Amino acid sequence: MRLSVIGCGYLGAVHAAAMASIGHEVVGIDVDERKIESLSKGLAPFFEPGLQEILQEGIASGRLTFTTDLAAAAGAKVHFVGVGTPQVKDGYAADLTYVNAAVDGLLPYLSPGDLVAGKSTVPVGTAARLAESVTPTGATLVWNPEFLREGFAVQDTVDPDRLVAGVPSTSSGAVSDEGARAADILREVYHPSVAKNTPFIVTDYATAELVKVSANAFLATKISFINAMAEIAEVTGADVTQLADAIGHDARIGRRFLGAGIGFGGGCLPKDIRAFSARAEELGRGESVNFLREVDAINLRRRDRAVDLVVAALDGVVFEKKVAVLGAAFKPHSDDIRDSPALDVAVRLKGLGADVVVTDPAAIENARRIHPQLTYNEDLDATLKDADAVIVVTEWDEWRRELAPEHAASLVKATIVVDGRNCLDAAAWRAAGWTYYGMGRP
Ligand code: UDX
Repeated sequence: MRLSVIGCGYLGAVHAAAMASIGHEVVGIDVDERKIESLSKGLAPFFEPGLQEILQEGIASGRLTFTTDLAAAAGAKVHFVGVGTPQVKDGYAADLTYVNAAVDGLLPYLSPGDLVAGKSTVPVGTAARLAESVTPTGATLVWNPEFLREGFAVQDTVDPDRLVAGVPSTSSGAVSDEGARAADILREVYHPSVAKNTPFIVTDYATAELVKVSANAFLATKISFINAMAEIAEVTGADVTQLADAIGHDARIGRRFLGAGIGFGGGCLPKDIRAFSARAEELGRGESVNFLREVDAINLRRRDRAVDLVVAALDGVVFEKKVAVLGAAFKPHSDDIRDSPALDVAVRLKGLGADVVVTDPAAIENARRIHPQLTYNEDLDATLKDADAVIVVTEWDEWRRELAPEHAASLVKATIVVDGRNCLDAAAWRAAGWTYYGMGRP
């Protein structure tokens, strides 16, 4: 099928390449010339395992092209909209400028029977509003949210755990004939998933929009829940990692996303829970999601806690002390530093006068651009050399594997380690002579 993908950021670039990899003919469109130039050469503009390969395969096969010209969307059967919805500068709400511009820009190129499939994360009510401008062209608007995780984006797109299609409904809320036809077209698009019986939920616009924000709100709440337990563990001498293991054995709870540490960041969870609160307020239901403010507050407190642990470990004086910060990306397998708790901790320590040296296997270049005041070193040993304290803020596998506590101890000035992600083997580090501090652990 011929497809267009408007917006070639994280979501759009992966979606375009993934759709080409399952056999479609795809044109990716973005206003950013540098991004298009890079994608056209088969170079991924960000670090995402597997993306480079499917980009190059798609381009070589002739099925995948990129352009800045929106007119190239003409002739495609489905037009995916995957532009960003960042947090507005002066509040919590989502900025819909790019979504509105993408849909308006597409209108002249739509043919009757086409689908416009929104993938961006938007406040509930957006699809119904956009449909008012799409419907007169004879095309149909659907909302098809994306649940991809950075680091697993290709796999999540090619083989998602569920597909959701918000389609036009009748006044009684049932799927309309137009909606049923639209859902069938989406089934054709996602044919490999349909063939393997991946759950495919056909619903109305509002539900589809809410599925996405509520999934992210739930995940953020789960992380903040365990971090709240970490705060209690800290004043009682309990160990939050054992607590998480124990409650995680209950199948109703589950162990995933119960990793206590310096909390969540990235381009989605923080902004999405804030936009959800803002939208609920607009709808007169602010109180229904008041807890999300608490989720946000707990999350941000964990960064303070990590900084406080370093300061306390250095007897209250960090000025001109060398602190080795292991991590800059908001999570492993990513070079994304958007709202990164890791970098936030580094910046705060620097603000207290510490001589901060940051290392990361993927995110140094991005971090340096935004925080040139920090010192970076690609070499782990050089970063550790003569450090007065070490703090782990992104749980890269490399460090779990390669960072032997005995070797690290031979490099540093003082054997103090703060494990901001509870990812090190505390017993092994202590046995090697380190003073080990975890998050919510004795
Ligand atoms: C998230 C959602 O998972 C995805 O479905 C949605 O489409 C986009 O937002 P992503 O931002 O890639 O994906 O990251 P995710 O893996 O969810 O992690 C988010 C943050 O939570 C990271 O900073 C991570 O370090 C943190 N986290 C995760 C924890 O602190 N503890 C955990 O147990 C899990």
